[in-house]
Formats: sequence, C-alpha cells, structure tokens
Amino acid sequence: MPDQTYLTKRLLLRPPKPADAADVYRNIADWDVVRMIARPPWPYPRSLADEFVRTSSASVIEYKGEVIGAVGIAARSHGHNLGFWLGKRYWGQGFMTEAAAALITAFFADVGDVALNSSYLADNPASWRVQQKLGFVQTGPCVLQIASRDAELPGVKTVLTRAEFQAAMLGQASSGK
Ligand SMILES: CC(C)(COP(=O)(O)OP(=O)(O)OC[C@H]1O[C@@H](n2cnc3c(N)ncnc32)[C@H](O)[C@@H]1OP(=O)(O)O)[C@@H](O)C(=O)NCCC(=O)NCCS
Repeated sequence: MPDQTYLTKRLLLRPPKPADAADVYRNIADWDVVRMIARPPWPYPRSLADEFVRTSSASVIEYKGEVIGAVGIAARSHGHNLGFWLGKRYWGQGFMTEAAAALITAFFADVGDVALNSSYLADNPASWRVQQKLGFVQTGPCVLQIASRDAELPGVKTVLTRAEFQAAMLGQASSGK
C-alpha cells in the first residue's frame, strides 16, 4: 500500500520523494500544524523535512503540483493508525477528508475488515470533524504525548470500521459533498 498512487477529484496521493522536502517544510513548519501532531519538535527543523521525505511511509498530498500535506496509515503493535496534516493555507476546503477517504478506501480493500484507529487532541475540533466525516466514532479519553509542547495532553481515541466508512461515504455522495 505505501508505494501506491491515488488520484482523487482534486488531489494526487503518492509516496514522498527527495524533491518534496521544500514543500513539506513550507507547509509543516507552522506552529498551528506542529502543535497538533505527536512527534515533530518545535521549532521544526528543515532537516526533519528532508528526513520525512526519505523515510516516511505516509503518502504526500499533491495539489496543483505542490505538496500541501500528508496522510498515512501506520501499522502499530495495537493495530493500524491514521494520521494526517495539511498546510494552513489549504485548510477548510475539504482537502483532508478527500485525501484520507482515498487512502482509507485502499486500506480496507487491501487488509479487509479490520478496525482503523486514530485519535485527536481535545483542543483540535477540526481533526475530529474530519474523522467524523469519514465515519470514525469516539471510543474514550486518552493522553497524547506532544513533543512540540513538551506535554502530555488530553485527547480522544477513535476507531473506524469498514461498514461505518462505507456508510459515511454513501452519506457524503448522496449529500453531494
Ligand atoms: C485537521 C486538518 C488536517 C483538517 O484539514 P482540512 O482539509 O481543513 O479538513 P476538511 O476541510 O476536510 O474538514 C475540516 C472540517 O473541520 C471543521 N472545522 C474546522 N475548524 C473547526 C473548529 N475550530 N471547530 C469545529 N469544526 C471545525 C470544518 O468546518 C470542516 O467541517 P465541515 O466540512 O463539516 O464544514 C488541518 O486542520 C490540519 O492539518 N491541522 C493541523 C494538524 C492536525 O491537526 N492533524 C491531525 C492530528 S490528529
């Protein structure tokens, strides 16, 4: 799955390549992005963008020739986990819902009827809204380690089944979204 390329209505999802590092850095090196995701430190160094495009198994999201974010499903000891981020200039246009839906469609086609986990920080309603539009449900509170804030912060665990994803996609299609 990580080596795949997916085309959506507006976006191309594909594996990162070294030439993407400048776009990645421009879009992720922003406090409003980094403070919501677990691992990157703040300030976000350019070297980390270089490392990301060399080593990440996530898909980068390309829009009109620019890499504007990334979405990935990582295999963890407790199952598969969805993560995502998008450059602030591109928020609020349905891009992440569109990108994640393409990756999740491929994920369920590939691995079958397993649960997909995710989470979000309690102060991140936009992430929850994206997940909700994809069909995720909340499963309980958790604590998330956020490197950029050097803190463990309250969050919410979420899970998506194939049936809930399909129902959410049907709902979006019938509402014209
Ligand atoms: C979360 C993130 C990926 C969303 O990307 P996006 O492309 O703007 O998402 P979409 O446009 O597909 O959907 C965003 C939804 O959140 C809603 N939203 C945005 N800000 C909100 C807020 N403060 N309160 C409630 N809802 C909010 C939008 O209205 C939209 O819902 P709608 O379609 O019902 O109107 C982006 O904000 C981001 O990268 N944030 C920083 C990194 C991050 O949070 N990553 C996830 C970590 S769990």
